[in-house]
Amino acid sequence: MIINTELEQKGNLFPSKIVAYRKDVDTLYFSTDNDVVLEMTIVRDSVLRFRYTTTGTFEKDFSYAITKYASKGYNLLEIEEEAESYKITTSKLICHIKKDNLQVLIFDAKDHRLINEDELGFHWEESYEYGGNIVKMSKVSHDGESYFGLGDKPVELNLKGKRFENWVTDSYAFGKDTDPIYKAIPFYTGLKDKKAYGIFFDNSFRSYFDFSQERRNVTSFWAQGGEMNYYFIYGPQMEDVVANYTDLTGKPHQLPPLWALGFHQCKWSYYPESTVKEVTSKFRELKIPCDAIYLDIDYMDGFRCFTWDKNHFPDPKRMVKELADDGFKTVVIIDPGIKVDKDYFVFKEALENDYFCKRADGPYMKGKVWPGECYFPDFTHRKVREWWSDLFRDLVENIGVRGVWNDMNEPAVMEVPNKTFPDDVRHEYDGNRCSHRKAHNVYGMQMARATYQGVKKFAYPKRPFVITRAAYSGTQRYCSTWTGDNVATWEHLWIANVQAQRMAMSGFSFAGSDIGGFAEQPSGELFTRWIQLGIFHPFFRVHSSGDHGNQEPWAFDEDVTDIVRKWIELRYQLLPYLYTTFWKYVEEGIPMLKSLVLFDQEDVHTHYRSDEFIFGEQILVCPILEPNARGRRMFIPRGEWFNFWTDQIVSGGKEMWVDAEIESIPVFVKAGAIIPKYPVQQYVGEVNIDEVTLDVYFKNGKESSTLFDDAHDGYDYKKGRYSLRTFKLTGKSDELIIQQHKEGKFDAGYQKFKIELHGLPFTITKVQIDNVEISLNELKINGNNSMIIDKGFSELHIFGN
Ligand code: GLC
Repeated sequence: MIINTELEQKGNLFPSKIVAYRKDVDTLYFSTDNDVVLEMTIVRDSVLRFRYTTTGTFEKDFSYAITKYASKGYNLLEIEEEAESYKITTSKLICHIKKDNLQVLIFDAKDHRLINEDELGFHWEESYEYGGNIVKMSKVSHDGESYFGLGDKPVELNLKGKRFENWVTDSYAFGKDTDPIYKAIPFYTGLKDKKAYGIFFDNSFRSYFDFSQERRNVTSFWAQGGEMNYYFIYGPQMEDVVANYTDLTGKPHQLPPLWALGFHQCKWSYYPESTVKEVTSKFRELKIPCDAIYLDIDYMDGFRCFTWDKNHFPDPKRMVKELADDGFKTVVIIDPGIKVDKDYFVFKEALENDYFCKRADGPYMKGKVWPGECYFPDFTHRKVREWWSDLFRDLVENIGVRGVWNDMNEPAVMEVPNKTFPDDVRHEYDGNRCSHRKAHNVYGMQMARATYQGVKKFAYPKRPFVITRAAYSGTQRYCSTWTGDNVATWEHLWIANVQAQRMAMSGFSFAGSDIGGFAEQPSGELFTRWIQLGIFHPFFRVHSSGDHGNQEPWAFDEDVTDIVRKWIELRYQLLPYLYTTFWKYVEEGIPMLKSLVLFDQEDVHTHYRSDEFIFGEQILVCPILEPNARGRRMFIPRGEWFNFWTDQIVSGGKEMWVDAEIESIPVFVKAGAIIPKYPVQQYVGEVNIDEVTLDVYFKNGKESSTLFDDAHDGYDYKKGRYSLRTFKLTGKSDELIIQQHKEGKFDAGYQKFKIELHGLPFTITKVQIDNVEISLNELKINGNNSMIIDKGFSELHIFGN
């Protein structure tokens, strides 16, 4: 759709002047002469919802994206009627609604500066083909304004100058700029005058965003049906915008089990059982840590979900147990297409209970996927989700599978040009019956939700692990995700990097790519560079289509195996840091990866950077994205940073060359950071950890770091059985003080911290723990930079000269 050509403008309809205003607690209604009503809800002081109807009445309010746990409530709400507009004031925002055309202007309540302003504002066009409206919104785009977010778009981080479509699509071997692909996350963050705000357009129909592409000074969004219904979220910090969006659409319902943050090996497909065992044994033999092994579609009997190919897997329960005894968690794929086969129990049950999707005129929605002709459960029906979740009993409770991988849930249909269901397919949509036009973008999300509910129920008291390919806003509550069928090229390594960052700033941090590339075969060098990036992605899995050769860490030459092992070991060492980062995401919605713009929006140099990012809060990473590189130029954000490999200190705020031969990529640690590390293990829980290393990076000044820990699985942490340590570091030219504060009832098994001091500018002369001097001998001081102390200290005071 084009919004500004004369032809299209002719179809556009606009609100006329406001004739009535009404307030109902936190919701204001502005009605116009031509039956448009703006319903504006004050969700929080910094979150406003705008919802429009053109008929005087609203449809039932229903959203799959918004969580019932979203925070609500504000400190201030004042409404004044002025000559030309209504003025709504909260403690964070001032909003004007113009009386003559319903246009909206939003200002910062503190400094009264304009943040966001309607251009044409809300307008619409009647959809004669389908009924209802094409709903449209256009906003002024100011010079220097930047845009970020929108889920998995494989483009530069800054979206300015581009147009996008949201329609989840199976996109085998997509490339840079392919649009749309697997996910629909209609949420973006705008950055104007260094202040960030977000817009979440909660409309599941096919929707579009235009960021100053068609007209330089206009940003617009529209959908092919449904309501104009969006949330305005103010920061002004970008991190707060993302955290508030994540609060609204939901944080993960629980932490993942720690093993899910380990390394996962996958391929289409490992079978029969002997091949699976060969792969897992090889990991142990070569001492390459690995926690999860995947079974792709060939484990099933003729691709029938919830069955096993008994020739290749004669006794799945025994196999899964043997793998588990060796530290491997088994994850199996489950697709939505159910084979049309009257002797197949899943098909029969769904047919008998009327659980399959149907076309408008009555026949079942039939489409071809891996098993041949299939019918598809309507996951937008609560009863269907309950039935589906019960199907996991045997797999999870009996056989012992620990994770489920949902694929093809766009839903993907083969041999048809639009790759999915036709528009007329009917859906229950939890009591809001509708066509596929409205349900398409949420179909995969509802499948993942049903799967999650099943795995959660039958894995209890362990935590569930689910991964999905398709997603709509809010899917992060249930599961992790990967970026779909990428290709083994250097360009795709670049794409993997921007996609993981973009997913994090779209509220969905638990994401990763098919490392090495799904289609085609990477060189050893590309595979190595991809692993080096992948260890910093919350979801860390190698996967490939399997028809172009092998992609295990030993499938290349020995040098590759050795380097890759070293990097996977680093991932396992960093697990306590990553787990703490995950906990902050689950608690507060803080994105686990921070693009530089999100880390330091005050510095305009960051607004156009795509390669560098912060892993957690204190580690700066920049992948190598080219063959034969011996290093690269990169931007170091402001502040002091330690080169992770050399301990050399650099001052940021500038671009610089960083060496990175094939063994390394640029990694820096923020000065003052305290990074917790585990010893290397072959899988999570392999060894009893009796000592945790704290890498302390000296800073002249103060810095705070945290370490979260718990049982690494189960739900006890929700009842207070966790341990949260806060370390406050204060450094001076001849002194270093680390104060520790501990919260929570969990007592981790280890007793000692090994303190590794980096960049200490003095020689240690005296050490006090909780005001008592300790002899340097007793501390096992190793040179000038290492000591072992009891984990219970409150204050470690190091003196020197
Ligand atoms: C799809 C998935 C891929 C999987 C394959 C076979 O292409 O994206 O990950 O291996 O189907 O199940």
